[in-house]
Amino acid sequence: MEKIIDEKKQGETLSVNAKEGNSRKLYIESYGCQMNFSDSEIVASILTNEGYNTTDNLEEADLVLVNTCSIRDKAEQTVRKRLEKYNAVKRHNSKMKVGVLGCMAERLKEKFLDEEKIVDMVVGPDAYKDLPNLIKEIESGRDAVNVVLSKEETYGDISPVRLATNGINALVSITRGCDNMCTFCVVPFTRGRERSRDPQSILAEVNDLASKGYKEITLLGQNVDSYLWYGGGLKKDFKNATEIEKATATSFSNLLALVAEAQPKMRIRFSTSNPQDMTEDVLHTVAKYPNICNYIHLPFQSGNTRILKEMNRQHTREEYIELIDKINKIIPNCGISQDIITGFPTESEEEHQETLSLLEYVKFYFGFMFKYSERPGTMAARKLEDDIPEEVKKRRLTEIVDVQRKHSAYRTNQFIGQTVEVLIERESKKSDQHWSGRNEQSLVVVFPKESYKPGDFVLVKVNDCTSATLRGEPIGLSDNN
Ligand code: 5AD
Ligand code: SF4
Repeated sequence: MEKIIDEKKQGETLSVNAKEGNSRKLYIESYGCQMNFSDSEIVASILTNEGYNTTDNLEEADLVLVNTCSIRDKAEQTVRKRLEKYNAVKRHNSKMKVGVLGCMAERLKEKFLDEEKIVDMVVGPDAYKDLPNLIKEIESGRDAVNVVLSKEETYGDISPVRLATNGINALVSITRGCDNMCTFCVVPFTRGRERSRDPQSILAEVNDLASKGYKEITLLGQNVDSYLWYGGGLKKDFKNATEIEKATATSFSNLLALVAEAQPKMRIRFSTSNPQDMTEDVLHTVAKYPNICNYIHLPFQSGNTRILKEMNRQHTREEYIELIDKINKIIPNCGISQDIITGFPTESEEEHQETLSLLEYVKFYFGFMFKYSERPGTMAARKLEDDIPEEVKKRRLTEIVDVQRKHSAYRTNQFIGQTVEVLIERESKKSDQHWSGRNEQSLVVVFPKESYKPGDFVLVKVNDCTSATLRGEPIGLSDNN
């Protein structure tokens, strides 16, 4: 499962891409997880070759694309509101076409055209290479749909156009799809079966980013630890691979080591990890390479083993705790963050208490916490009644968020007096006199600009904090520059 992009960035649009001679204008917005943002860069790349440059001005667009998320009902509602907005603009611009991409396109398919009549084109996550044909269809006045899921597509051969980029951080996708079948989750239906991307194409992309001055990459997948390259194809078919393919297969820890060695000055992150697939190898690899950040996003969803079983998670409470203990032993100072779903069907008060007690045990650096949202077609929706009343879900979520906030403050406070290495990403949102970046544990650090610039690795002495941010004074460039 993917980490959802920072709320503030949802819907971000992007303009930087301009190829000479291109006369058509593409407006593209992305919602949901990092994978969606990464996919939008692939889409922009495909359309650059079709005569489109991106614009951040909706009114002047020839083509409006929205890359959508289905993870919770709220995510879909947000997209519906945006579609209404595009259609209002479209009334004044007769040549404008609107297309829906991503998970909601895959989930609702033709329904978008039949029932809603607010879009011209519906394209699922594995069909982006068909966009040039689909666009021709809509230009000749027909609606167009392609929601075929693929066994092979990884877009490994497409060099993404970097959108909304600061030229410092980039997303690199390494797997697509998901085989986990968590009962609450729509992703296996919207993104299909799990497949891994050729390590050579991953390395080529990382090397290219380094040569363009990028300083940090995040390797992306719904379940990165399950990465396995054996010559292509679905993960589930690995058992039928040849002996040679099996002997030369690349695992996630192999891939991490390859990337870390290829670009020792680049910071490497990865997301998302699933407890059942995270191996000790990966932990040792993270510990071994200084440029792989000591930070793991490790969703646990619930602290109760019965609920985990109902969710079809492949781990128990005890196994999760064991893994946390291992991480803390093998990677001292590892930042760990979580995802939690509260109010899953049948969750009792005692079971909710177990989620709180697991939080107390781990003391996560931060987390992403959600009320259960029933998704049509999932196993949970088919088998279990969404029986936890909304007020109870709300109250449990507040209790969870309050405990997490306390732990975030505990974690940030521990950095006071310490010197941390920060990669400057942008100007602080609150002050044009300060830079904002992150330390390895992914905590935001804000400090006076002095003569430093974005992309610098700076040593910062932390002297103050909130539960979400560290503040400090820069004391010099780190050796990593
Ligand atoms: N309801 C609420 N939260 C969900 N997530 C996934 N599916 C649902 C759902 N149906 C959460 C999980 C996941 C994160 C990306 O979104 O916590 O890890
Ligand atoms: Fe990402 Fe799709 Fe899942 Fe949303 S539903 S988090 S876009 S994979």
